[in-house]
Amino acid sequence: MLDSPPPSPIYDEREERRRLHHDADVLVVGAGIAGCAIAVALANQGRSVILLEKSLKEPDRIVGELLQPGGVAALKELGLDQCLEGIDAIKVNGYDVIYYGAEVNIPYPANAGSANGTRAEGRSFHHGRFIQQLRAVALRNKNITVVETTATEIIKNGWTGEVLGVECSTKGEKDYYFGHLTIIVDGYNSKFRKDYIKLQPVSRSRFWGIELIDAELPQPRHGHVVLGDGAPVLLYQIGTHETRALVDIPENCETASVKNGGVKGHLRNVVMPSLPKCVQPSFEAALDRGALRSMPNSWLPPTTNKTPGMIIFGDAMNMRHPLTGGGMTVAFNDAVLLAELLSPKNVPRLDDTKVVLKQMSTFHWRRKNLTSVINILAQALYSLFAADDPNLKALQLGCFRYFQMGGNCIDGPVGLLAGIIRNPFVLFYHFFAVALLAIWLYIQQASLIAKPFAMAKGFAIFGTACIVIFPYIFSELRT
Ligand SMILES: Cc1cc2nc3c(=O)[nH]c(=O)nc-3n(C[C@H](O)[C@H](O)[C@H](O)COP(=O)(O)OP(=O)(O)OC[C@H]3O[C@@H](n4cnc5c(N)ncnc54)[C@H](O)[C@@H]3O)c2cc1C
Ligand SMILES: *[C@@H]1O[C@H](CO)[C@@H](O)[C@H](O)[C@H]1NC(C)=O
Repeated sequence: MLDSPPPSPIYDEREERRRLHHDADVLVVGAGIAGCAIAVALANQGRSVILLEKSLKEPDRIVGELLQPGGVAALKELGLDQCLEGIDAIKVNGYDVIYYGAEVNIPYPANAGSANGTRAEGRSFHHGRFIQQLRAVALRNKNITVVETTATEIIKNGWTGEVLGVECSTKGEKDYYFGHLTIIVDGYNSKFRKDYIKLQPVSRSRFWGIELIDAELPQPRHGHVVLGDGAPVLLYQIGTHETRALVDIPENCETASVKNGGVKGHLRNVVMPSLPKCVQPSFEAALDRGALRSMPNSWLPPTTNKTPGMIIFGDAMNMRHPLTGGGMTVAFNDAVLLAELLSPKNVPRLDDTKVVLKQMSTFHWRRKNLTSVINILAQALYSLFAADDPNLKALQLGCFRYFQMGGNCIDGPVGLLAGIIRNPFVLFYHFFAVALLAIWLYIQQASLIAKPFAMAKGFAIFGTACIVIFPYIFSELRT
């Protein structure tokens, strides 16, 4: 009698190449926001991918907790939107700006083309839970091998300078991984950036984070921005019971000096009284529990990838102030664009470095419609919201009054912030409209006798507005 033959084991030659020879089409360094997204996107196109991560444990960080609607949309395009499920994520419907106690509600705009008027939605969550969901998708993908190891060195071809892979340290042992294309996405403190990007990140303030329990927010399901005498404070729910408070503290902040009780003293004596009354009890309880953490708020303008065999993106290549929660939206949209530019149709072989570099030049300019908006808006808005001179204070007031006018005066700015409006000129229009309103308000409140002086001051305010925005515009124009 003939037995049916045993089922032949499914032999995957490419999996074996990755596992035994540490060799793939694409080597991705860093399984964070950008790394998971690009690894999955390229694997779905049929590429063989190795994804390296120094720690696969659930990260516990105060970053990347609010995803703007434009980021949610990009996540969906990547086929990763299920990662927002099952993590107790909170729907976000817009912002609430509180200026010396006065409040203005800024809902996200209606979805483009929605007949029934549905509005765009963001999501906020515990960063670590979201990251673990993204990693789980990568781990399940048959075209990806995920390895826990720390990349220590870039391996180059000594003749051509082409990047071939990375040297790693796995539990103290040296190890090597190779890819036709090496993608470096090792985050804000990138170990590899300095050898390939001439610019250094600049940081003038830090966000200090604490977690409030069962906080009562003025507008549930909204990001809150609290403005007053000091730098801005952000409040947003990250779970059913948890709310994140991020307090910006500029370098050399006098009230946070050791003499004045340090950061804790500043939070208790300066920040707490400026918060809405309903938030103060949970804020104070969180302060009493202790556990303060901080992160630098950095600015790093984007640059074109010019190294053969290597691509660097995510926070390693481009950062903006986290005030507007734009970092993940940039990373996911970059992953969408990169995957399109590097698809097998456009780049049949990833070791064809000439073609890849040409695509990277296209990438640098094509990503700008969205990212220059997010980058410039974050920096300009931070300058206004952390106003520390009278001209900036006048612009800050102008900005708040502008929002109070409602209609397009909020739909435009929040559409930009949400990553929905992708047109830098819309940003310039609203920015200078705010500047003109600020000047008009200033002149109007001056007495008749003081009017000429106020007009001169108006020019100074306009000058300050230009100083705020032009350096960021120029930094977006470079290669
Ligand atoms: C205070 C603060 C708040 C923020 N809030 C928001 C927000 O609300 N919304 C938002 O969209 N953005 C926010 N951001 C920005 C956002 O966090 C980043 O833009 C985003 O995380 C960048 O993703 P990335 O993949 O480049 O880096 P990361 O997500 O940091 O990932 C880098 C990964 O690389 C790994 N790695 C590093 N070095 C190595 C190595 N040598 N070998 C192997 N692996 C390595 C790390 O372990 C990590 O997993 C915030 C930033 C800050 C500072
Ligand atoms: C993996 O790659 C193959 C082609 O090599 C492709 O047919 C398949 O769809 C990919 N699988 C996944 C899960 O993306």
